[in-house]
Amino acid sequence: MSEDAPRMSTFAGEYILPVRIDILTALPDLLQSWFGESILQRARTKGLVEVHVHDLRQWSTDKHRRVDDYPFGGGAGMVMTIEPIHRAIEQLKGERAYEEVIYLSPDGALLDQALANQLSTKGNIIMLCGHYKGVDERVREHLITREVSIGDYVLTGGELAAAVLSDTIIRLVPGVLGDETSALSDSFQDGLVAPPDYTRPADYQGWKVPDILLSGHQANIDTWRHQQALERTKERRPDLHWSGEGNDPAT
Ligand code: 6GU
Repeated sequence: MSEDAPRMSTFAGEYILPVRIDILTALPDLLQSWFGESILQRARTKGLVEVHVHDLRQWSTDKHRRVDDYPFGGGAGMVMTIEPIHRAIEQLKGERAYEEVIYLSPDGALLDQALANQLSTKGNIIMLCGHYKGVDERVREHLITREVSIGDYVLTGGELAAAVLSDTIIRLVPGVLGDETSALSDSFQDGLVAPPDYTRPADYQGWKVPDILLSGHQANIDTWRHQQALERTKERRPDLHWSGEGNDPAT
């Protein structure tokens, strides 16, 4: 994607500014290929989103372009230094306004659909990928607006987490998904997991599609799907909030 001023796009007749995400990483190659593919690439070519992956080393003043150093007080592992990170963020902020500077970290707030929804309404976002042991604590104290984890497990770096977080945000941008209703009917948007889907053939070697889906009665189909979603949520994800006692077919 070019570094030019954002292109204006239209969606549903409105002029919109693309959502812009800038990712700071010591391993840019890991992410470049990811954002060059699939839905995200279509969103970029439609001018709906811009994702810029930056190599933190370009802001290093060290002659070896290092972006990490030994921890004060000793101990294993390297720590990412504050200077290149600060210079990178300052440069980006000098070029345009950012609403969030997010540090991807296993001890950040756990990513869920509500957080993705909230972030999808933001303007430009910077994401900082941690690596090695982590970052100098002063980055977290002074330069970051929010810390996000994608789950209770440890990754070797924040790059995959930044890709996951970007995907959850980008797919919510109006016009990115072909079918505008599909993002809203996702699992989790209503606190329910999705009902089962089927496609042709209606009978595969004796394994049949439920008759109701072939009935043509849309209201009955909608009711059946909702009941399936409720039952599945109770069974698989009782920790999620299904909506309302009255909707619960098991009570
Ligand atoms: Cl954001 N980073 C790392 N290194 N590990 C993680 C994570 C992030 N989220 C879950 N595990």
